[in-house]
Amino acid sequence: MRKSVVLITGASGEIGHALVENLSISGECDIVTVDLQDLPKDIEAKVSRHIKGSITDKILLDDLASRFEIDVIYHLAALLSTRAEIIPGTAHRVNVEGTLLLLELAAEQSQFRGKPVKFIFPSSIAAYGMPDLATKAQFKRVREWEWNYPTTMYGANKLYCERLGIYFSNHYKQLSEEKPITLDFRCLRYPGLISAFTMPSGGTSDYGPEMLHAAAKGEPYACFVRPDTTINFMAMPDAVKAAINLAHAPADSLTQRVYNITAFSLSAAEFREKVLEYFPGAEISYKVHQNRQGIVDTWPMDTDDNHARRDWGWSPDYDLDRCFGEYLVPNIKQRYQ
Ligand code: SER
Repeated sequence: MRKSVVLITGASGEIGHALVENLSISGECDIVTVDLQDLPKDIEAKVSRHIKGSITDKILLDDLASRFEIDVIYHLAALLSTRAEIIPGTAHRVNVEGTLLLLELAAEQSQFRGKPVKFIFPSSIAAYGMPDLATKAQFKRVREWEWNYPTTMYGANKLYCERLGIYFSNHYKQLSEEKPITLDFRCLRYPGLISAFTMPSGGTSDYGPEMLHAAAKGEPYACFVRPDTTINFMAMPDAVKAAINLAHAPADSLTQRVYNITAFSLSAAEFREKVLEYFPGAEISYKVHQNRQGIVDTWPMDTDDNHARRDWGWSPDYDLDRCFGEYLVPNIKQRYQ
């Protein structure tokens, strides 16, 4: 008998790290992880098995499928938006082709066990593309189907994989006589995420977390976007809570497969003010990187998460004040003490 597990790809990354932590506390499932890197030491003991390798390695995935019966896949492995612009071909191979392999694995397992594999997929505000700043200012809270014109490799990859997930859930083998048991794809469009414990790498919303971590370490920081640059953000515990709650939501309560979720929206200047409130001596200046600025300018100021609220009871625990006052600052101070 194969063992029934939850599979997490990209487990050594920011969301993965926090998700392993959280899932292991509830102890409800055995966790198997895949990542190019070793798992961070503090979560090593919390998983049943870690496989070091690439999600683009079909033999690795086949081996995994032969050993484990997979109930839920949290497919987090991806190259983020800045990194993806530097190596777009590799980004496509990992973000799209890797996702396709995992969807195929989930599709096969769903049929084999006669029960849908749940496939939880993080998408992003990068799936949007506001054509100019005037439009961004006019349409402040965008809904899932609006302005889906990403201008980055990462955003295009995410938007396309949303469609692939919907295809595998709703239309897979649509010409066959008998409808197969299909996987159950559920996707969250995250805003910029901020963790007190880990640093993002390769993203374009990174100026927020970088500003804060630099201040906590007593290092100067030059923010790479203009002060008026506004997008939405979320504390990492809310991001993890959302992924777990969406995975647990009864299938018949879900009216769509892709959900926006948001916590708070603020400008880089307001972010800086908030950091200075807790670290008054912080040296935070601006040195605008025009090309990265251009990317953030296409992302919306905020997203409308009413459907997530209505269908599966989404609501963030951390608004801006609680995020800094109760989560980020106390934990970050302890971390760098
Ligand atoms: N945080 C991501 C990035 O900056 C967006 O989802 O690439």
